Amino acid sequence: MKNISNKAAIDKLIFALDADNYKDALSWVELLSGHVGMFKVGKELFTAVGPKIVESIKERDQRVFLDLKFHDIPNTVARAAESAVRLNVDMFNVHASGGGQMIKEAVSAAWACADKLDRTRPILLAVTVLTSLNNTDLAEIGFSKNTDEMVLRLAKLAQTAGASGVVASARDIVLLRENLGGKFIIVAPGIRSANATIKDDQKRTLSAYDAINTGADYIVVGRPIRTAKDPLKACHEIVQEISAGLAGK
Ligand code: C5P
Repeated sequence: MKNISNKAAIDKLIFALDADNYKDALSWVELLSGHVGMFKVGKELFTAVGPKIVESIKERDQRVFLDLKFHDIPNTVARAAESAVRLNVDMFNVHASGGGQMIKEAVSAAWACADKLDRTRPILLAVTVLTSLNNTDLAEIGFSKNTDEMVLRLAKLAQTAGASGVVASARDIVLLRENLGGKFIIVAPGIRSANATIKDDQKRTLSAYDAINTGADYIVVGRPIRTAKDPLKACHEIVQEISAGLAGK
């Protein structure tokens, strides 16, 4: 068994900061700073309160994943990527279905902007197929491939275009790790503790242990911490599962 530091495990835990106002979001940041590796700011919170929540998290020396899933013409996404870098986020994402050119321009604009500002380049992820879509939904849009084929195709497209990694459903981790090599970053949401009792809308879930053990680099966890009676305890339990997953690799 490898000896895994607590810090290495904490770094892999991304907390989904799914609040609809600044005050609630900030109280979660204050509670969980140092206990999670990153705070994920998504469309609900960012649309409600804007960049100040990102600035407040960064002022506390915490890391931010800006989950806005950019999808637009290449020039617009490139400019949005620069704005994300200027906000000093550590991770952000685009939709791979925006195409190779869009991803390439986002990557080169983000890297150039980070280099100019003398900042660490952020991790740029691509979203493949939303887990809310099934084969019937893809056919309805006009795609002839099934979800597994589309996930792999879009992940390879993103890798070729220079993205750092993908957001992948827990179910796809093994397939992607086998096909994309060890260095491509995999971020997995839909994580539930091995002994979870909560039931919600996440259908294809995986435990933190299994996600890390089968090849995820980061896991995204929201409700299992947010709705727990003791959120800090829930957070520490997930970190323990991550440690065990890393040690068992
Ligand atoms: O752990 P919980 O289900 O609350 O986490 C949900 C978070 O993960 C949300 O912020 C959601 O947007 C994100 N997410 C997801 N499934 C995906 C991609 C992202 O639940 N396939």
